[in-house]
Amino acid sequence: MELFKVRVDAVREEAHGVRSFSISRVDGLPFEQYEPGAHIDVTGPSGITRQYSLCGDPECVESQVFAVKKEEQSRGGSRSLHEEVSIGTELSVGAPRNLFKLEEGASEHILIGAGIGITPLLSMAYRLAARNARFTLHYFARSERHAAFMTLLTRAPFESHVKLHFGVQRDALPAALDACLRDAGPDAHVYTCGPAPFMDLVVDRAQAHLPAESIHLERFKAEPAPTVEASLDSFDVQLASTGQTVHVDAKTSIVDALASIGIEVDTSCGEGVCGTCMVDVVSGEPEHRDHCLSKAERASNTVICCCVSRSRSPVLVLDL
Ligand code: FES
Repeated sequence: MELFKVRVDAVREEAHGVRSFSISRVDGLPFEQYEPGAHIDVTGPSGITRQYSLCGDPECVESQVFAVKKEEQSRGGSRSLHEEVSIGTELSVGAPRNLFKLEEGASEHILIGAGIGITPLLSMAYRLAARNARFTLHYFARSERHAAFMTLLTRAPFESHVKLHFGVQRDALPAALDACLRDAGPDAHVYTCGPAPFMDLVVDRAQAHLPAESIHLERFKAEPAPTVEASLDSFDVQLASTGQTVHVDAKTSIVDALASIGIEVDTSCGEGVCGTCMVDVVSGEPEHRDHCLSKAERASNTVICCCVSRSRSPVLVLDL
């Protein structure tokens, strides 16, 4: 994967425990344009790589902005970015990838974020505001102090589109979400990002109004893989281009099995959340254990995340 050396041009305290970093390329070239909702790999001073959503204006190619919440349980990634990065620090970043796309043709967009989940929604809001699209950004946070990007969100062009929901208790959340979704037209699309239980609830409430393909979500962290009884302990993976086959045993990932025969599949998170290791499936039935494919992609069985997913069929033929 292509990596760029970037320099940090600005660091801002956006909320309690949340900092944003504005970066530009060390070689002085512009970034490639990205679609709102995209994320990048960031390797900080600790050498740890994590994925962060781009949250600036996607039309801006001179700089990119991402925000980091300092996680209490940090294994070094977010802590290092908070404690060891200042203006002038150099970092490595990857090219933007997007598994959380705006449905540009939709008549209405309802963005529902919680906590640091505001970040991909912010880049969507920039695009929607620039296109004069019909949209509302609902932002749930513990308190105003915990809400990031408030200076931005409370000014034009966002102010008239933003609805803030502070301190909503867990038992009041279903009703609050119902109120956000009540007036959604049949062609509306809903986008959500935040803690997994929050997103699960948004999906649950949105499904009462809209078809599943109109509901989009972005997960940041892998949750425990679902228990899967139908997957096989071991199976074969075949390369469509050459017919070469490699056995994948119960302790080996598809990525590692392929590497053992010299086939490198790009990876980043290794946890099924970023989508870097996606490969097209030619035949066979994948057992999806990732957290990034859409419902439709899973159902189609035409793509697989090779870092975590397995197979339900004895042979899986991949487009490699
Ligand atoms: S490497 Fe991130 S999903 Fe596989």
